[in-house]
Amino acid sequence: MAERVKLAYRESGEGETILLIHGFCGNKDYWKEVEARLSPSHHVVVLDMRGHGETKAVEPGYSIHDMAEDVFAFIEEKGLQNIFLFGHSMGGYITLDLAKHHPEILGGYGLIHSTAYPDSEEAKKNRSAGVSKVSQQGVDLFVKELVPKLVSERTRETEKDVIKKLFEIGIETNPKGVIGALMAMRNREDLTHVLENDRLPVLLVAGGQDEVISPEKTFTVNGSHVTKALIEEAGHMGIFETPDEVSRAIASFVDENSKK
Ligand code: MLT
Repeated sequence: MAERVKLAYRESGEGETILLIHGFCGNKDYWKEVEARLSPSHHVVVLDMRGHGETKAVEPGYSIHDMAEDVFAFIEEKGLQNIFLFGHSMGGYITLDLAKHHPEILGGYGLIHSTAYPDSEEAKKNRSAGVSKVSQQGVDLFVKELVPKLVSERTRETEKDVIKKLFEIGIETNPKGVIGALMAMRNREDLTHVLENDRLPVLLVAGGQDEVISPEKTFTVNGSHVTKALIEEAGHMGIFETPDEVSRAIASFVDENSKK
């Protein structure tokens, strides 16, 4: 069995459990704004994935499934049940893998600026170039180039504090964590069939200004089990750019589906 990594976490509030998984070069502080809005009425748990935040890094060569199994081991150890799981971007890839392998632990799940599609051939080449870049030049330069692409033009021009925060969080990522995540994302499978499965309710949140994952790549399925929220002014970082809208979408999805 592949190595399981014990995940650092933070929890607050009481009520239905909402588990939040950050994206690439992020950590649990990606969710601070959303956490503050949800925890007065929900039990909110935020995680650091392997090589990110306070969770240790391991040798690259693992998969998105391995990262999802870290989350599953965490859930089992904490004894959490009927969880509402949401992943931002890379966190969404991990969320989908959990929905595929462990649907019984979920009350519902959501992709926040994420997609069920795999990488295109061009994206795979860019991941490999990223691996070389981080190996040769380290994390700081890589993150410096990454961060501006994550937000909308408006955020880029007017919200320098958001850019600064994203940079500060990003450069804390362990180089092995960056390389491991790049390889895992490059090799991930198409999980559209998981999204299509109507046995679990699904929330899809997209940003109208997202230059990394366009709304078309997020809204790939229809059905009565699917709730879609398009936040027109958000880039890839609605959790920082439009935290009220993202939190509202999550809270109403959870409250609606926990009644069932
Ligand atoms: C993320 O924010 O997690 C990344 O943009 C995901 C990706 O590169 O596919």
